[in-house]
Amino acid sequence: MEDLAINSQAMTLPPDSGLSARDFYPLNRQSDLGNIIQDIDNQGFACLENVITANELNELVAFADTSAQRYQGEYFALHGKDLLNRSLLAKLWDNPNLVQMLSRLYEHAAGRKPASDTIWPVLRCVQGNQGERESGCFHYDASLVTLLIPIIIPSEGEERGDLMVFANIRKTRGMVLFNLIEKMLLQNSFSRKLLNAMIKHKLLKPRQLQLKPGNLYIFWGYRSLHANKPCSPDIKRATAIFHFGDPHEGSAVTKLILKFNQRRARRTSHKAMKTPRTQ
Ligand SMILES: [Fe+2]
Repeated sequence: MEDLAINSQAMTLPPDSGLSARDFYPLNRQSDLGNIIQDIDNQGFACLENVITANELNELVAFADTSAQRYQGEYFALHGKDLLNRSLLAKLWDNPNLVQMLSRLYEHAAGRKPASDTIWPVLRCVQGNQGERESGCFHYDASLVTLLIPIIIPSEGEERGDLMVFANIRKTRGMVLFNLIEKMLLQNSFSRKLLNAMIKHKLLKPRQLQLKPGNLYIFWGYRSLHANKPCSPDIKRATAIFHFGDPHEGSAVTKLILKFNQRRARRTSHKAMKTPRTQ
């Protein structure tokens, strides 16, 4: 297996290696993991370039497109391995090197090993009127490490759903109650409107990222307030997200948050299917 060529901005993988056999970083080169950590800590994210080959990307796009047709051009989010195990994403979450990389990243950020090696995958597709409503929903992830896999990313127009990140603005909370209170204070419709208005008037300036399919992006999702920018109803934006490492593992509150998010995603996806498009 070839070593990765890594610099402080991005890491490039060999273009023709297969997902299942691929190293995500050379385990014998500590400095490479160090570069990833340095990028996340200093600039808010690390980018691993050209990890997904063109053929693999086509397969992911086909899966996202087929799913999108089932939701009749409206927003949906598929949570969990059961709903996604027929996609190429399964090869990715089964890759032991990827799991090890995420585990090492968690260990750095949390100061301890993760209680579990479980990856929680989500396929999220922003499209249609409901997609517009689901944009700008700033939140902290329940898990510490977030791996973002862009699949379909519009490249034209003003409203193409770029990622907005206020990177690393909080620490990992020792008490799950503080985490819950912070989430309740920020993740409500009033705070959402206020944040988006302040961004619109340039009083707040989140880092904005135009994602590139083929690359992987890693950030501290638990510590970074993030959302996607508005998306025009007539465009489609599909991303897969791997969540890893719950700092409050075993907490009943975290389980409730995850259940709430999954139920909300199911409700929103079903609602979107029933709502006729106005454009
Ligand atoms: Fe998130």
